[in-house]
Amino acid sequence: MTKTLGAVATALAAWMTAPAALADTIKVGLVGEFSGPFADYGKEMMAGIKAYQKIHGDTVGGHKIEIVTKDTTGPSPEIAKRVAQELIVQDKVQFLAGFGLTPNAMAVAPIATQSKTPMVVMNAATAAITTASPYIVRFSFTLPQMTVPMATWASKNGVKSVYTVASDYGPGIDAEETFIKAFKANGGTIVGSVRVPLKSPEFAPFVQRVKDAKPQAVFVFLPAGEQGIAFMKSFNERGLAQAGIKVIAPGDLTDDNVLDAMGDPILGVITTHNYSAAHDSPENKAFLKAFADANGTSMRPNFMAVAAYDGMAAIYETVRKLNGKIDGEKAMDVLKNFKTTSPRGAVAIDPATREIVETVYVRRVERRDGKLYNVEFDSFPNVKDPTKE
Ligand code: DHB
Repeated sequence: MTKTLGAVATALAAWMTAPAALADTIKVGLVGEFSGPFADYGKEMMAGIKAYQKIHGDTVGGHKIEIVTKDTTGPSPEIAKRVAQELIVQDKVQFLAGFGLTPNAMAVAPIATQSKTPMVVMNAATAAITTASPYIVRFSFTLPQMTVPMATWASKNGVKSVYTVASDYGPGIDAEETFIKAFKANGGTIVGSVRVPLKSPEFAPFVQRVKDAKPQAVFVFLPAGEQGIAFMKSFNERGLAQAGIKVIAPGDLTDDNVLDAMGDPILGVITTHNYSAAHDSPENKAFLKAFADANGTSMRPNFMAVAAYDGMAAIYETVRKLNGKIDGEKAMDVLKNFKTTSPRGAVAIDPATREIVETVYVRRVERRDGKLYNVEFDSFPNVKDPTKE
C-alpha cells in the first residue's frame, strides 16, 4: 500500500468511527464522466438532478442538498477511486452517486464498503456491480434486464438468425452472453459474434463481417452516445439495410441524446429499454418540462437523466426519513425499499438485490413532428435482473 493510500485508510477509519453528524447541509458526491468521449454521461446525470431540484427545491426536511461533482474523464478506475476518496475524506459527502461507466463504479465499490457510504448508481449497467458492495443501490438497469426481453421479442417476431456485436467490457459481455443464451433457448441461431474495443472503435471491418455472414438481424450493444452514430454510419455505408439485415439492440444504441443526429438509417430500429423521452405519462410530461426549464431545450433527457432524477428522489427520501442523520446502514434500509412513479413508469428497488424492478418497453424509431423518437409499442412489466433470480 502506498503512503497516500495508507493516509487515506487512516482518515477513512477515523471517519467510520465518528458518530453520524447531524449535518445541516447534506453533500452528494457525484462521480461522473464530465470530459472526454463520454462527457455527455455526466452532463445528462447533472441535468436530471437539476430537473429534480427544479421541481423539489434544493432542501429537504430543513437540510440543504449540495452536489459536489468530480470528473473521471472517461473509463478511468484510478481517477474514479481517487476522486471518491477525496469526496469522502475531504468533502465529507454523505452519499456517492453518478457512475456512467462500469469500470468507474467497480473501482469505487470497495471505498463505499470501507466508509459505509451509500453509493447510488445512475447508469453503470454490468450485472455484477451491485454484488461488489452492500452499499450499492442501482437506479438504472442491468444489461441482462434489457437483453432477455429483446431475445424474447425477436424470437416471437420471426427473427431466427442473429450476429452479435458488443463492446468488449462488462456491459457488452453481459449483453452478448445473456442475449445469446435467451435467443438460443427460444430456438434462435447465432451465426457469429464480435467484440469491439471500448476506446475508439473502428466499425467498418466488423460491419463488413456481419454483412458477409448474412444474418436476419444484428444485435448490438455499444455504450450510449457517439459510438452508436458511428456504427449506424458504417451500417448505412456498407448497405446492410439493403441486404435485408435488421438492427435489434438494448436502447443504448438509440440513446435519446443522440437519436435525432443519427438520421434516417436508424428509422425502424427495434430496441428494448426502460425510458424513452416519448413515454406518454403525466410524470414524464412534468419531467420533460422541468428538464427544459432547468437545462434549456438544446438537450433531450435520456435514460441516464431519468436514473439520476429517480436516484435523487431516493436520496431526498432518505434525508427526510433519517432527519439528516445519515448512517450508512440506516440509509441503505431506506434506499433498498424505495418505490416511486418515475417518468419511465412504476419502479421499485428489490431489497434482496438492490436492483431496480421496472418495465422494459419494446420501441421502434419513428419520426414525430420532424424528430426521431423511440416509440414504445409493447412492454414487459416488473422485470428484475435475471442474473439474480
Ligand atoms: C455502460 C452501460 C450502458 O448501458 C451504457 O449505455 C454505457 C455504459 C457501462 O456500464 O459502462
